[in-house]
Amino acid sequence: MSHGFPKNSPVFSGVMSPSRVEADILDLEIEGELPPQLNGSLYRAGPDNRFPPMLGDDTIVHGDGMITMLRIQNGRASFRSRYVRTDRFLAEEKAGRSLFGAYRNPYTDDPSVAGVDRGTANTNVVFHANRLLTLKEDALPIEIDPLTLETIGKWNAEGTITSPVVTAHPHPDARTGELLMFGYQAKGIGSNDVVFLPVNADGQVPRETWFKAPYPCLMHDWFATEHYALFPVSPAVTFPERVKKGAPYYMWDSTKPSYIGVLPRDGSGEPRWFKGPARFAMHFVNAWEENGRITLQAAMASPESPPMFPPADAAEPPKEWKNGTIKIVNWSMDMSETDDRIEETDLIDDDLFIEFPRIDARFETVRHRYVWWLRKDFRRPSVPHLLSVVSFNGIERRDELTGELDTYWTDDRWALGEPLFVPRQPGCAEGDGFIIAPVFRIEGQGNAYMVFEAMNIAQGPIATVHVPFHFRPAFHGNWVTSEEIDVAVAKRTAHA
Ligand SMILES: [Fe+2]
Repeated sequence: MSHGFPKNSPVFSGVMSPSRVEADILDLEIEGELPPQLNGSLYRAGPDNRFPPMLGDDTIVHGDGMITMLRIQNGRASFRSRYVRTDRFLAEEKAGRSLFGAYRNPYTDDPSVAGVDRGTANTNVVFHANRLLTLKEDALPIEIDPLTLETIGKWNAEGTITSPVVTAHPHPDARTGELLMFGYQAKGIGSNDVVFLPVNADGQVPRETWFKAPYPCLMHDWFATEHYALFPVSPAVTFPERVKKGAPYYMWDSTKPSYIGVLPRDGSGEPRWFKGPARFAMHFVNAWEENGRITLQAAMASPESPPMFPPADAAEPPKEWKNGTIKIVNWSMDMSETDDRIEETDLIDDDLFIEFPRIDARFETVRHRYVWWLRKDFRRPSVPHLLSVVSFNGIERRDELTGELDTYWTDDRWALGEPLFVPRQPGCAEGDGFIIAPVFRIEGQGNAYMVFEAMNIAQGPIATVHVPFHFRPAFHGNWVTSEEIDVAVAKRTAHA
């Protein structure tokens, strides 16, 4: 009997091949020059199945969490990668094989792991209140050591979070020092219970705010403004009875409207639900308040082909995304009116396919000027399979004020990962800094990180840091400065 990863699955071949390597590489090769202001670490989380999937093939979002760290100090760089020791990882390590079946479906698991936490910690890494956390939206965050990447344990804000699930997309509010979190389907499979979790600067949640969504669905990303937390509800719906029978966890029901729940951040009331047509955005850019209106900016999939979800009346998931568009769209709501409609505005009148939008994080919750994202030009060379998460061939900056686009297109060697903005120094102007993006070799061995001047993407990377082996593309990550890491490590040492 053969044993291994599926050979013809786009999820496990080519640039998406499993890596499974825990590495320490000192003194990486660098083309160009790393700017002296870059001192810190870029942490990213991605899925890298430790064992071949139990059911033969799998979705990309289901692999074991692998954390990568690019550490930059004084113009030099090193790389480290470690698996997160989740309950699931440890159970499978002990058994020497995979024990967990389909994505978010415990009914398909090996009976020996009934009741074991299925969290993979594979989606994002954030730093807050001296702790480095890795996240997956169907479980609690897991704290990891910022230097060694060793797993420390589950994090529940010192016991102040009672929800068993926390989003993988927390958003900072630089004005209050909070890290805003939430949990959805927080009382089990297909529950419509949502909980808002504002984590204060000390790392605790002073109060949870629980409410019900109109129906249970995928709530991957969200945002907040100065006074409100916004909860997008789109008809990628969970049908608990179907999940029991082995159906995909999310199915697209275009007969349902979309909603945005607008909840006062101070916990003083219930959400007000605004309503619009069936739409889906995996990621949002930002949200802000202006003249009595709230605007949520989104990377919005074209409504005729919301990617990834089988129609609610189909039995099988689609094998491939349709080549639709993912556009940049403003959803806005008038808080002064009794009208509950969501108004939708396309910002670029062109066929776009963009994803992984990021802004200067200091401007989350207030109006931003610049956004960076990955873009795919279908006429240029790229990884063809859209489910690979790195099928993009462009990094682009958009200026909200002028509409100007500033774009860098790669050649046919590289597939691009999420671009992350790093300020040049504390207190500098919006957009004054660098973009770091991981890049993955489409064929052969060796990945890299490209560093750009954030306000001049078109000129190409000012430095490329080479990692001499293939590591599997990840989803999201964040930058932590050396000063922040030093303080966190000192606190932990003093505590031990
Ligand atoms: Fe995400």
